[in-house]
Amino acid sequence: MIDESRVEAGALSRDGVSAEQALDEVRRLRAGDRPTHGGRLFAYVYDPAVPGLDDLTAAAHRESAHVNGLDPTAFPSLLAMENALVGAAGRLLGGGPGTSAPDVVGSVTSGGTESLILAVKAARDAHPEIAAPRIVVPSTAHAAFAKAAHYLRVALDVVPVPPETLRPEPTAMAAAIGPDTVLVACSAPSYAHGVVDPVVEIAAVAAEAGVRCHVDACFGGWALPYLRRLGEPVPAFDFTVPGVTSISVDLHKYAYAPKGVSVLLHRDAAGRAPQYFAYADWPGYTMINPVIASTRSGGPIAAAYATLRHLGDAGYLRLAATTRDAVAGLADAVRAVDGLRLMAEPESTVVCFTATEDGPDLFVLVDELTARGWHTQPQLSYADLPASVHLTVTASVAPRVAEFGPDLAAAVEATHAAGPVRLPAELVSLVGVLTPEALTPEVVAGLAAGLGLGGDPNSDDTVGPLPERMAVVNTLLDAAAPALRERLLVEFVGLLQRPDWSSGE
Ligand SMILES: Cc1ncc(COP(=O)(O)O)c(C=O)c1O
Repeated sequence: MIDESRVEAGALSRDGVSAEQALDEVRRLRAGDRPTHGGRLFAYVYDPAVPGLDDLTAAAHRESAHVNGLDPTAFPSLLAMENALVGAAGRLLGGGPGTSAPDVVGSVTSGGTESLILAVKAARDAHPEIAAPRIVVPSTAHAAFAKAAHYLRVALDVVPVPPETLRPEPTAMAAAIGPDTVLVACSAPSYAHGVVDPVVEIAAVAAEAGVRCHVDACFGGWALPYLRRLGEPVPAFDFTVPGVTSISVDLHKYAYAPKGVSVLLHRDAAGRAPQYFAYADWPGYTMINPVIASTRSGGPIAAAYATLRHLGDAGYLRLAATTRDAVAGLADAVRAVDGLRLMAEPESTVVCFTATEDGPDLFVLVDELTARGWHTQPQLSYADLPASVHLTVTASVAPRVAEFGPDLAAAVEATHAAGPVRLPAELVSLVGVLTPEALTPEVVAGLAAGLGLGGDPNSDDTVGPLPERMAVVNTLLDAAAPALRERLLVEFVGLLQRPDWSSGE
């Protein structure tokens, strides 16, 4: 019998706990996370290492956390801050009064994925006469385009990139455009390798075909203009390029704002109009949403506003210079180690390397680097691109660069000594032939247990849900085709996401 007066479980305690205890619990949980500050985590976080900035953004967030972006007339503060962010992004990316794109408009979204979904939605809904719309993207485009296509039922035409350049050929992009194409996309730069696509040529072929062209500058759109001002050879990628119709830039990346803020810009208001959703056919408030969320917190927007106001143009220029020096130092460290090679010469804020034929097992190397306090991001092999290691470099990395080289060399040595991951032959052949449809709960449970994933749901032991070393998991995923990788990850993450039914006391 369940006692219905006792509902406490997980986060819900019986009588509530003190504020101190609640905060203490958050802090204790956070202690198991990767370090968001300190320049040793090369993905997920963007840390400028500016003293006082965290306090400022926390205070700004607190001021506006309960403000609701649902209705700009009720909270004009939010409208003003959004307009200020869009103005800053538009100006940085070649638009605004006195430019060749004077009518640029935009919206503040919650992140890059939302910006890309909305760019695809706007392109789709601009053509209600096209029954089966399609978008053309290079294979290096961010996975969020695939998510947008999936959510919006738009077909995805993927153009492979040559492994030597890692960027799409404009002629191949042109050839992929058909009568149902509503959008052509490219990256400035791509996340995986940090290279800038030939935007001028791609925008030209899109314009020629009368199709919108979106530049995904989510990752580096805030850094590239500053790198150019520092003398780096950054190719044109913004609204100065004819044919570019929309651009996304994430403020929670290289504008160094706390998470939850991106900007989607359109060349003009007509381009943005089909992005909006309005609904008046119900008895409640008439809904008009420029973005996907309806209720949304003013916190991240206020925090981003405060970040931009505080750092200023000069601050971003300084941070870009520091980051550029860190990128150069890390790339030199990679070049100095036998068995590693850069996937591309760095041209933005990414260092991406792979192993030569007799080089180390990259997945073991990633674990060895983790053991030395460096958190890098493994990228699985894809089509004719080898597996690689990705480093997102931010300003906070600069003081650490000198320590990275010796640790990288030691990690490579330890990797050679450990030898590559050898999965049991039956497992490799199973993964080679398994189709996603054939994955039964038993097969998943067996694989997860074999890989040490998920822990034991029926046990109280404190062993975490993830193994300390991930090389075996990555090697297994690498042996699988993309469709099986997707399905395995869905299953594995599903195993991790299970309710905490503990009594909460
Ligand atoms: C080029 C690019 N586009 C889009 C995204 C998606 O951004 P978010 O994770 O903020 O949704 C990313 C994230 O890394 C990115 O690098």
